[in-house]
Amino acid sequence: MQPSNGTGEVNLKVNLGNVEFKNPILVASGTFGYGSEAAKFTDISNLGGIVTKSVSWKPRPGNYPRRIVETPSGMLNSIGLANVGVHVFVDEKLPYLAEFDTKIIANIAASSQEEYCNVLEHIESHATPNLAGYEINVSCPNVKDGGLSFGTNVDMVHELTSALRPLTKRLLIVKLTPNVTSVAPFAQACEAAGADAISLINTVVGMSVDVFTHKPRLATVTGGLSGPAIRPIAVAQCYNARKNSKIPIIGIGGITSAMDAMEFFIVGASLVQLGTINFVDPDAGTKVINDLQELMKQKGVHSVDQLTNTLVIEERMKALGW
Ligand SMILES: Cc1cc2nc3c(=O)[nH]c(=O)nc-3n(C[C@H](O)[C@H](O)[C@H](O)COP(=O)(O)O)c2cc1C
Repeated sequence: MQPSNGTGEVNLKVNLGNVEFKNPILVASGTFGYGSEAAKFTDISNLGGIVTKSVSWKPRPGNYPRRIVETPSGMLNSIGLANVGVHVFVDEKLPYLAEFDTKIIANIAASSQEEYCNVLEHIESHATPNLAGYEINVSCPNVKDGGLSFGTNVDMVHELTSALRPLTKRLLIVKLTPNVTSVAPFAQACEAAGADAISLINTVVGMSVDVFTHKPRLATVTGGLSGPAIRPIAVAQCYNARKNSKIPIIGIGGITSAMDAMEFFIVGASLVQLGTINFVDPDAGTKVINDLQELMKQKGVHSVDQLTNTLVIEERMKALGW
């Protein structure tokens, strides 16, 4: 079924910076490939946006297998940023995605500030009309270089965001890791350096062991946990970021339904991304969009803006500093 965007009683449109998304449901990097993989199973034009798999300057083969393990309520992955490299990305993937009526956000991963800048500039010079902006992955737990070494250092996040900001007028979104004591200083650093938004969370470091062989189930020993198991962590991190900064938030982590998405809006997110659920059902995005519209109707809410940042905390708890 086609979701009816922006019509009738409920208007799903959301503005972020100078970009209008037709609805707040995006798909998360690394869980939807470059769109073509899912296009056989769903109408990807229904989505508010597609965040593409992290792209680096050169192609990367990723980590040795085994790279995926199922866990209760989620999965552990250690893909290691396998990707086609920025040249194939701009020559083949972006033009393919330009055919669809949805916004594209190019996710970038790199092992140095220079590489982040080069990749962004290369994409910028080959931009297609529906390229809305960039999501900067400083939060991948599964690579030895780059990734978390940036994302767990506030000064590096500030410096990188400041270096990237002048290179584009499109959306600049920094994707944060939950693998820090508090996301608050990172949200503040992104805001101060001129990012348009932050997205959170990336996966949570986790590990699983085969008790018969005593070997770790992932070749890289540890990996990134995703799926419903991490949703409460993600909601808490988005809440923390909202409480401590004004920068718009894109909520990610274990979202499988409209109800789940609504939790993120209530704690302060303007948009959300669906990740692991895409492996279970590539059509999940369309279903969530339709259900969100129904849910909003039932609640008598006319726009996503009316939901964002509407958490109610009892006065006596506020008085105690909660
Ligand atoms: C198999 C897999 C690959 C991923 N690859 C990337 C990636 O390349 N870049 C990135 O920023 N996040 C990547 N992620 C993280 C997701 O975009 C998302 O932040 C995370 O999975 C939490 O959302 P979820 O619980 O809905 O899956 C990947 C996640 C999975 C499960």
